[in-house]
Amino acid sequence: MAETVARALGRAGNPGRSGHALSIRSARDLFVARERLAELFGARDSSRFVFTGNATEALNQAIKGILRPGDHAVTTSVEHNSVMRPLRRMEEAGVTVTVVPAGPDGAVDAKAVAAAIRRRTRLVAVVHASNVTGAIQPARQILRAARKAGAYLLLDAAQTAGSVPLSLSDLPVDLLAAPGHKGLLGPQGTGFLYVREGVPVVPLIEGGTGSRSESDRQPDFFPDALESGTPNSVGIAGLGVSLAWLLRKGIGAVRRKERELLEELVEGMGRIGNVTVYGPRDPSRRASVISFLVDGMDPAEVGRRLEKEFGVLVRSGLHCSPDSHRTIGTFPEGTVRVSPGPFTTGKEIARFLAALRKIAASRR
Ligand SMILES: Cc1ncc(COP(=O)(O)O)c(C=O)c1O
Repeated sequence: MAETVARALGRAGNPGRSGHALSIRSARDLFVARERLAELFGARDSSRFVFTGNATEALNQAIKGILRPGDHAVTTSVEHNSVMRPLRRMEEAGVTVTVVPAGPDGAVDAKAVAAAIRRRTRLVAVVHASNVTGAIQPARQILRAARKAGAYLLLDAAQTAGSVPLSLSDLPVDLLAAPGHKGLLGPQGTGFLYVREGVPVVPLIEGGTGSRSESDRQPDFFPDALESGTPNSVGIAGLGVSLAWLLRKGIGAVRRKERELLEELVEGMGRIGNVTVYGPRDPSRRASVISFLVDGMDPAEVGRRLEKEFGVLVRSGLHCSPDSHRTIGTFPEGTVRVSPGPFTTGKEIARFLAALRKIAASRR
């Protein structure tokens, strides 16, 4: 992937802006990556995948492009700030927001979400899996409730895209947002928003698209309607390569591997007396994220020691989701989060567990 990005940097034409060879090549890179996204997520029309710079941009576009003054939105208490902050901003513009509390394991009850939906509810915005506890939310039941009420469902798949199977033909959500640099294994600076046909999203940004240049009006066809300005064609070329790898490997296989590693982790951590693991016990309800605390130890200190003494890199703190930590009772210090990926080995898990045992023993 890095080689592809380097090669693309060396010949970066502006896609769709010109008829010369480099521009056409860049446009092809975008087209190929878009087609692969559609294949990976079981969508018929790749043009409904709009490239963004990250998941935050995609979520902002979805939330601010759908909601209008007087609308009501439903969300949960385990959302990332990239959902909560745009929703709070929309409150200032006359939108009302209901936050449905999740349980202590970070899982939300679909019935509680359904009960929060009102006549004026236009958007239900839910994280597919919590980036703090890993809890996979009941997206299917939530979609059913949203559909019944005529509301749109936005699914934040930042923690599941590429690592938990998700097919838009099976789970036809209205809006799906994800970064390219997490489970999709692409470079930073890439991401996407999928918009189901017929979902009326107003663009956040208007400008040059390379299409309909004779008009001073934004094109209404996809992806141009929501894709203005020069894209990160170099990063997207790299994303295309990682998507090809995922398509070859299969997300089911990635999920199986990550589940095995998660089970080893949860079991191993459970055997260390003074370590508390958060999130659902059932590994089938958990994405590849584990939050934990060593009793009586600051999570930042645990993270620092894991890196300095054992070379293990984790993220400590609030994970840009303070409400998640309020929900599970770990605010304001947060937790330590460990997240195995498709290239993590059993040996690395064993090394991490040995390191954690030592750190935890030093506290007893
Ligand atoms: C659940 C969730 N949503 C959104 C985001 C934002 O992603 P990005 O950093 O690509 O904007 C993250 C990133 O950590 C996340 O975990």
